[in-house]
Amino acid sequence: MNITHVKIMEGFIRACEDGWLQGWHERNGGNLTCRLTTEEVEELRPFFKEQPGEWVHMGVKAENLAGEYFLSTGSGKYFRNVPLAPQDNLCILEINSAGDSWRLVWGLEKGGNPTSEFPSHFLNHSVKKEATKGENRVIYHAHPAHITAMTYILPLTSRDFSRALWKSETECPVVFPGGVGVVEWMVPGGAQIALATSELMKTFDAAVWAHHGLFACGPDLDTAFGLMHTIEKAAEIYLLARSAGQELQTIPDSGLRAIAEAYGVKLREEFLDNQ
Ligand code: 13P
Ligand code: ZN
Repeated sequence: MNITHVKIMEGFIRACEDGWLQGWHERNGGNLTCRLTTEEVEELRPFFKEQPGEWVHMGVKAENLAGEYFLSTGSGKYFRNVPLAPQDNLCILEINSAGDSWRLVWGLEKGGNPTSEFPSHFLNHSVKKEATKGENRVIYHAHPAHITAMTYILPLTSRDFSRALWKSETECPVVFPGGVGVVEWMVPGGAQIALATSELMKTFDAAVWAHHGLFACGPDLDTAFGLMHTIEKAAEIYLLARSAGQELQTIPDSGLRAIAEAYGVKLREEFLDNQ
């Protein structure tokens, strides 16, 4: 048996390929992580290295992730190469008992490190694990063009982005009733952007990184991928409509409330106007 036949690995590789096919992962752009269940770790353990790597300090800490295992894309690795050579482009990491360091137990056979955004993924996993009572397991970062383009023409507030996206496609309020968070432009890859993003992830399931891309999360790969896809599609419609001409009509706030009522979801009240 090959590690690629383990269900979670198969799904992870498929998600990487699907993201590449969507055009969201130019060069090494984007990264994906999944917190593994105990059962998944046991399925994967026979493939682990005989000798794990050295512990590497992360610069961020989360006690509720102590002892967890993560499947992650590698830093500088290309999503388009993942299906061809998962063992060179992906890795499995074990977290130490303090929750502040990782060590490599599988993958990156030609060398390398987990994604440079691992601090952001790690803190997002921590707040989401807490907020969802352990249900959330996937954090996904991509560079979709339309949502990134929107960050040049809209005020960088969660309210402005959530309203624009909700009104761009009728099913958006159902898919992300909590809206989307927005992180102002920052240097990627470090603790500062990780802290800012994880603060938003306490109450949002997606966070836009200004002039960079999007973070989305979910209990499984399908949900996180689907959220990324839905937000990016709404952003595309938003930009298409604006480039096509003057807006004559849109979904009113009363319509957003009606959708929430019909589908039994709770929209973030402070993002709605009173009408
Ligand atoms: P990595 O190659 O380190 O994952 O970085 C890609 C990226 O999108 C950084 O934000
Ligand atoms: Zn990025």
